[in-house]
Amino acid sequence: MTTTRGLREGDDPITMLTAYDAPTAAIVDEAGIDVVLVGDSMGNAALGYDSTLPVTLDEVASRTAAVARAPGDALVVADMPFLSFGVDEAESVRNAGRLLKQANADAVKIESGPHTVDTTRRMTEVGIPVMAHLGLTPQHVNRLGGYTRQGTEQDAAEEIIDLAGAHADAGAFALVLEHVPANLAGAVTEALDIPTIGIGAGPDCDGQVLVINDAVGLGEWSPPFAKQFGDVRGEMVDAVEAYRDAVTSGEFPAEEHSHVEEALEDLY
Ligand code: KIV
Repeated sequence: MTTTRGLREGDDPITMLTAYDAPTAAIVDEAGIDVVLVGDSMGNAALGYDSTLPVTLDEVASRTAAVARAPGDALVVADMPFLSFGVDEAESVRNAGRLLKQANADAVKIESGPHTVDTTRRMTEVGIPVMAHLGLTPQHVNRLGGYTRQGTEQDAAEEIIDLAGAHADAGAFALVLEHVPANLAGAVTEALDIPTIGIGAGPDCDGQVLVINDAVGLGEWSPPFAKQFGDVRGEMVDAVEAYRDAVTSGEFPAEEHSHVEEALEDLY
């Protein structure tokens, strides 16, 4: 079973993938992935929103509980959605606690900034393991003006290094680095004692994460830094069309899919 402490052990890179339901989480776990992230990327990937901003704590809690019900050993990390943290510290801690107490998450992830250092410390103190997240933080899309690469200027890169250190000192057990230059991610990884997990952050992080839709080829679009390792969308389209054709042609259901009850002979 993967634990937040166990993530620091071993020489192999850490593998993390998102999942938003039990069957997908079971597949991810069966494949030996270390961490299942119930990301707020569910907004786009599963719930039909056009960003992560509308995702609610109830939605994350429900999806996290489903993922946690799947059998397996992977660490389950629940993403805290927009405004479920950062407004009021006590409320942030209670919301995070709910994801552990009610939804059975092992840890929470927080899109981090200067305002989340104290919150990370408080959550850690009360026993809620926190995964920090720096670089591109999609919940800040309106401030950033788009889903753009971060840390490309010297000042911004140094701020990310400082914030990474501050969150590690506050007790974060791991750090996601999203859409930042590979050399910046390498420098952060070198500077920290906690593992870094990159997405669009090059090969020098301690691990990698992708959104499941991008990794298996389920979405219609995926970001330039993602790689599709399958064509699940194509497979599903083929299967759904084959089902439609079989029903419209009368080929399905066939005899082996049906049951005739002799005792019902005299029904009419
Ligand atoms: O919500 C999410 O899936 C994430 C990952 C992309 C790191 O934050």
